[in-house]
Amino acid sequence: MYEQISHSLLNDILTQLKQPPAKDWQHFYTRLGANFYAIYSLFQHLYGHRDDFKPQLAHLVAVLSEQYAQRAPHLKAKDLEREKNHDWFMQQKLVGMALYCEGFAGNLANMKDRLGYFQELGINLVHILPICDCPEQANDGGYAVRDFRKIDPRYGSMEDLEQLITAMQQCEMLLTLDVVVNHTSDEHAWALQAKNGDQHYQDYYYMYPDRTVPDMFEASMPEVFPEHAPGSFTYNPETGKWVMTVFNNYQWDLNYSNPAVLIEMVDIILFWANKGVDILRLDAVAFLWKKIGSTSQNEREAHLILQLLKDCCQVTAPGVIFIAEAIVAPLEIIKYFGEDAVNAKECEIAYNATFMALLWDAVATKNTVLLTNGVKDLPEKLDRATWLNYVRCHDDIGLGFSDQAIIASGFDPVSHRRFLVDYYTGQYPDSNARGFAFGVNRKTGDARISGALASLAGLETALANDDQPAVDNAILTIVLLHNLIMSFGGIPLIYYGDSVGTLNNDGYLQDSSKMHDNRWVHRPTLDWDMMALRNEPGTVQQRLFSQVKQMIAIRKEISAFADLNNRDLIDMINPHLFAFHRHVQTGMNPSVVVIANFDVHPQRAALHLFKQKGLHKAGGTLVDLCSGQTVQVEDDAIILPKLTAYWLAA
Ligand code: GLC
Repeated sequence: MYEQISHSLLNDILTQLKQPPAKDWQHFYTRLGANFYAIYSLFQHLYGHRDDFKPQLAHLVAVLSEQYAQRAPHLKAKDLEREKNHDWFMQQKLVGMALYCEGFAGNLANMKDRLGYFQELGINLVHILPICDCPEQANDGGYAVRDFRKIDPRYGSMEDLEQLITAMQQCEMLLTLDVVVNHTSDEHAWALQAKNGDQHYQDYYYMYPDRTVPDMFEASMPEVFPEHAPGSFTYNPETGKWVMTVFNNYQWDLNYSNPAVLIEMVDIILFWANKGVDILRLDAVAFLWKKIGSTSQNEREAHLILQLLKDCCQVTAPGVIFIAEAIVAPLEIIKYFGEDAVNAKECEIAYNATFMALLWDAVATKNTVLLTNGVKDLPEKLDRATWLNYVRCHDDIGLGFSDQAIIASGFDPVSHRRFLVDYYTGQYPDSNARGFAFGVNRKTGDARISGALASLAGLETALANDDQPAVDNAILTIVLLHNLIMSFGGIPLIYYGDSVGTLNNDGYLQDSSKMHDNRWVHRPTLDWDMMALRNEPGTVQQRLFSQVKQMIAIRKEISAFADLNNRDLIDMINPHLFAFHRHVQTGMNPSVVVIANFDVHPQRAALHLFKQKGLHKAGGTLVDLCSGQTVQVEDDAIILPKLTAYWLAA
């Protein structure tokens, strides 16, 4: 948009910049022109009351241009290519894996030797969990960053990462890295200077001389880690001040009401964009703005900050996109794509935490009513935006569905959530899950769940009891969950170890820096001898790996699985079934009906329910695209075996 005040300000700013050669900079200027009004308006809204508003804005533009000057020609070429093919990340060809590089391969250098494993499985997007320099002990699995521009020596060097990126680019594999935007370690240079009494850096954080303001904040702020890090402030003895620490007491929250913080973060984001990272996962974005009297989550200004980050990134590195890590209520998550827009104006991708939690509900209850209601309640996402669908990740599983959806499904929210925690911690009589309660809040009764997927799905108990039918059910459950993240719409993100059934590992209990945090039980160190069993017929590893691998290969060929707002739920009368239709715009490719049975007994799905979706018995048979097997049809009903999902061409 052209608007005179911001335009003339931009001209002033540009005349002060060192004039770069015109030809190479054409794209920078057109993008700056296109984004500047939005940048200016947001900056004005957030910081317009400050005396230093104009110099701060000029500094921001200088950062954008300096980083553009650093951007390598091949990355600029990729920007242009992605501008043309603007929905590149919504195609069904993408399948991701999230991993800790240490647990997966030992270090970054070894990761290069494991690219063949990704290719074997069909993974072409790898999210390496945080690798920036962190304190040895107090690091929250890499989310307490000491230096945003340095690789933690435990994982290698920047050169190792650069070599890995080159190797990944050669095999057309995308890389996702984290930018921990909400907080730093208390050992970060900014925090150290703040501890030294430097007011400039104290203003990067929320620091108060006594408990007056902290008490006001805490009155309405929920606790994130109520067991091991209660409260949201920590006393800092060096300064005698109270510092806001929403997560662990060594993670200092950054104060985005200071524009210097925002500009630092833009610079860091562009630094990583210029390293060749394709997708940046912005951590804990719901927490970016704090307000007394509120929960200090999902505040409107948090969204404005994200819009600014997006607009700035679009100027310098438009080929780089963002993932929002906002594990919040269903109706809040979707706002991280940006509201009132067609294209994502905050983050192009968001964790589908709602779907993840609903899947776990269906596994425990063997009933799909809440899953169906929860999915129905999700508003349609923006056109140029997509979900990250996952079964589990490095974090706990939060039971993040809405109370309304639970009530509409015929359950009581409090007792239903308690049942789920009991079920997954193996307390419930019928359960063979082996998980752990995480983040138990004695005041509110809330709890989340830790545990490896395979252990939650009953594999650990089944193996310990040498119970073959139970092993079979666990394998079916793990495959079923993967089947749904592959077909639902969005990028499936597999968690490392899950496609070979890695179990809980309690080794973390020996490590004093981890023992208080049971999320480590599901952050494995892969045993590559065990991994080799994925190619030994008949092993659990092979039974799982071969099915997930096949599913990935077939997903990539089904264009109806591209995420183009092309999913309709199909109402199932049978409460054990969940079904949806993935339709296509052109008649060239078949649309697909996905039907899943969460029960441990076969279930019937009447064929007439799918008639309108164009599902017919061609030549008297129906074939599951995923397994290639013929589907049993009896008396005009599909018979779905227990814990199985079918992909049926319609
Ligand atoms: C994110 C990370 C989580 C971490 C938290 C605080 O939620 O995924 O692992 O503990 O942020 O940084």
